[in-house]
Amino acid sequence: MKREVIQTADGSKTIKIIGLDETYHSIHGALQEAIHVFIEAGLNELKSRASIRIFEMGFGTGLNAFLSALKASELNMKVEYHGIEAYPVSTDELDQLQYVGLVKEQDRTVYKKLHESKWGELVSISDSFQLKKIQSKLEETDLAADYFDIIYYDAFGPRAQEEMWSVELFQKMYDCLNKGGFLVTYCAKGQVKRNMKAVGFRVENLPGPPGKREMTRAWKD
Ligand SMILES: C[S@@+](CC[C@H](N)C(=O)[O-])C[C@H]1O[C@@H](n2cnc3c(N)ncnc32)[C@H](O)[C@@H]1O
Repeated sequence: MKREVIQTADGSKTIKIIGLDETYHSIHGALQEAIHVFIEAGLNELKSRASIRIFEMGFGTGLNAFLSALKASELNMKVEYHGIEAYPVSTDELDQLQYVGLVKEQDRTVYKKLHESKWGELVSISDSFQLKKIQSKLEETDLAADYFDIIYYDAFGPRAQEEMWSVELFQKMYDCLNKGGFLVTYCAKGQVKRNMKAVGFRVENLPGPPGKREMTRAWKD
């Protein structure tokens, strides 16, 4: 799949899959979307906790992990973050994205460390953030039961990759969550929410980021 780096409406960049008309983030604003969906409706929801574990489906550019590492340090919360990615982004693409330019000088080393950390190992990125990047397909990966508190479900949309929104994969996501944990995603498609409900999730509709009416948070009660 050929990819190119493009600019989104809030000035931050993302990657586009040429030919598929699919992007890694919203064209209405990559940074805005990541903050709205994964930080505000995700990590922030558990801000009173001293420590949490996050699983990300689709590590991609590492933007969600980067923002989570900065938020964890701001909240003084310990975060163990596992991100799965089948097709890692290249160093050249990371350079073009210029996400380090979005933050203060002192936070830039965190971004570098995220991308330099070894795949398959739990690595300490800062006092508050540990990262394990897993290079694999979600369908082919076993995950520990009742382990994570939050899942960032950031697969390509169902139009491009319908199989990533199936009952089977949501069952896997449900099983690896702790009771009281939740999955959060930008997607609000009816069939996706029905598949979540089929495995036992309680589905909550939330206002979406700019350019999108709704997003979804699904709870394991
Ligand atoms: C919407 S993008 C994710 C964007 C990412 N969270 C970010 O902030 O850059 C979807 C990601 O899922 C990855 N992906 C696609 N199929 C996958 C699979 N079967 N297992 C794991 N990752 C997959 C893609 O390579 C891509 O990086």
